[in-house]
Amino acid sequence: MGNEIRIVSKGSKDKYIFTDVIELDGQETTILDITSLDAIRKMVAENDVKVIVNCAAWTNVDGAEDSEKYALVEKLNATAPENLAKAMKEVGGLLVHISTDYVFGGDPYNTPCKEDQKGTPTGVYGLTKLLGEQNIQKTGVDYLIFRTAWLYSEFGKNFVKTMMNLTATKPQLKVVFDQVGTPTYAYDLAAAIFDIIDNRKFEGNTGVYHYSNEGVTSWYDFTKIIAEIAGNKGCDIQPCHSDEFPSSVKRPAYSVLDKTKVKEVFELAVPYWTDSLKKCMKNIMKE
Ligand SMILES: NC(=O)c1ccc[n+]([C@@H]2O[C@H](COP(=O)([O-])OP(=O)(O)OC[C@H]3O[C@@H](n4cnc5c(N)ncnc54)[C@H](OP(=O)(O)O)[C@@H]3O)[C@@H](O)[C@H]2O)c1
Repeated sequence: MGNEIRIVSKGSKDKYIFTDVIELDGQETTILDITSLDAIRKMVAENDVKVIVNCAAWTNVDGAEDSEKYALVEKLNATAPENLAKAMKEVGGLLVHISTDYVFGGDPYNTPCKEDQKGTPTGVYGLTKLLGEQNIQKTGVDYLIFRTAWLYSEFGKNFVKTMMNLTATKPQLKVVFDQVGTPTYAYDLAAAIFDIIDNRKFEGNTGVYHYSNEGVTSWYDFTKIIAEIAGNKGCDIQPCHSDEFPSSVKRPAYSVLDKTKVKEVFELAVPYWTDSLKKCMKNIMKE
């Protein structure tokens, strides 16, 4: 997500500083550990920061279930967003924060989730992300929280890149068909965020929003389309049930986000998921 923000921000009239907890190869990065409120305050004061877009998180859903990791997961997903919110509140700035469809899932539902649906996380990742949202809200800062789902991009490790590789190299593959949701090209979310910031559309419109691409699919259908676009014809892809891949966390079965609010309030056009997938895969295949 952060890498897509980096690309989109190049077209912004505002100046952005990119931070990470470690030095990144070939990328201009300022070191900042967002678990330290003092470090954030110093960065904000020295650079007269007016807006923070937070893409940092503990994102390893299964790894978050390791009880020895809980303190760290909570620090990153719940305390760090609170730190960022406090720092922005102190200077009258805006915090843009990315959250997740995993704040839902505990209650069965089969209609797209609206922003005010009660959070019912099923695991530590979803729980700590929900705590992060609540901690931001408690500070009284101006905030935009975007809950998104099934993110992929040209960068890092993600489902699209993994399936491009597996469908090219394996004769057979089983993929779950009993979890549905909407894949989201991180570039599209980054572009939406910058449209809102650049055009100051957030004024009077702060709050929680749902953003994914348009449409609904299963991980199985997602994989079939990835293989088709990649031209990988040699892999026999079969649907299977989630219980064939035991996991420490129960994933939401129907993880579809209702985007009515974000489209109406910010007058956004949200791309259909296969259109965005084709764009992203074209970029990956160029590399
Ligand atoms: N991926 C998805 O499918 C998905 C779905 C819904 C919502 N989201 C949300 O979207 C956001 C972006 O996700 P992503 O997939 O882009 O995550 P990601 O690739 O795991 O990136 C998270 C980033 O946070 C950085 N980080 C870790 N600890 C830090 C610290 N103490 N201070 C500063 N930075 C720190 C990580 O640095 P290192 O790489 O150096 O550890 C990494 O660059 C997250 O909030 C996530 O919860 C993701």
